[in-house]
Parts: sequence; structure tokens; C-alpha cells
Amino acid sequence: MKILVINGPNLNMLGIREPGIYGEKSYAALVQFIEDVCEKRHVDVECYQSNHEGNIVDRIQAAYGNTDGIVINPAAYTHTSVAILDALKAVSIPAVEVHLSDVSQREAFRHVSYAGMACEKTYAGYGFDGYRLAIEYLTDKYGK
Ligand code: DQA
Repeated sequence: MKILVINGPNLNMLGIREPGIYGEKSYAALVQFIEDVCEKRHVDVECYQSNHEGNIVDRIQAAYGNTDGIVINPAAYTHTSVAILDALKAVSIPAVEVHLSDVSQREAFRHVSYAGMACEKTYAGYGFDGYRLAIEYLTDKYGK
């Protein structure tokens, strides 16, 4: 099984950006965490991060035909990007949304998720563990 993990803008600043909300661990630590989860589950994983909406759309499109599941934290684009929603719908790859923070308990503008409309599940507020839950969901349901 092949999973693509996509992280959106400013998640490369993990550990530096608002540590009270997003934690003190770096993006490199997140990638290591995800790779460890996937190794235990014998899942082939690629972690992709971009600060650019179009690059995220391009990466989703490039997954068509070669990826079994997508885990996506679109970060701020969650709340604005119809283009990322449409890309997820276009490729029809099972997708799960993750947020480090509990967006439902934050500002009202974070309560809307466009990408989430194309995702089977959302894990928000579990920190790094949300990525593990998303990977476990996808491998339990689609693993082979
Ligand atoms: C985030 C929540 C978003 O509202 C925010 O813009 C982010 C990170 C999270 O992981 O909690 O950049 O997606």
C-alpha cells in the first residue's frame, strides 16, 4: 500500500511557529514520526510539504493511478481552497484530513474545511498522533 502525506503552508515551521498551539517538535520530527508509523505497518509512504496551493494541487494530481491513500493537512488552505477540494475529488483517492490543533475550538474562520468535504474522516486536535490515526484508518480499510 502506498500513502501520500501532504502538509500545507507553514507546517515546515513546526517547532518555531506558535509552539503553544502546534507543539515544540519540528517538521523533520513529524516526518520521522510518520515514517516510523508506516514502517511498522509495512506501508510505503511519501511526505510532501509545500507553501504553495498550486503545488499541492499538482502533487495530488500526480498521485492519480499510483497512490492508495492520501493523508492531508492543508493548513490554512483548509479554510479557503476549493482548488484542493476539487483536486481530491478529481483523483478519487481515499483521503483523510488531519489538523494538529482542534480547529473546531478556534476562530470561526477555521470551522469551515473545503478539503474535508472530499475526505472520509478528520482527526483534529491530536497533534502528531492524528497522522497515525489517519494512516491506521487508511491501512485498516484499504491495506493490501
Ligand atoms: C492547522 C490548522 C489551520 O487552521 C492552520 O491554518 C494551520 C494548521 C493544524 O494543523 O492545526 O496552519 O491545519
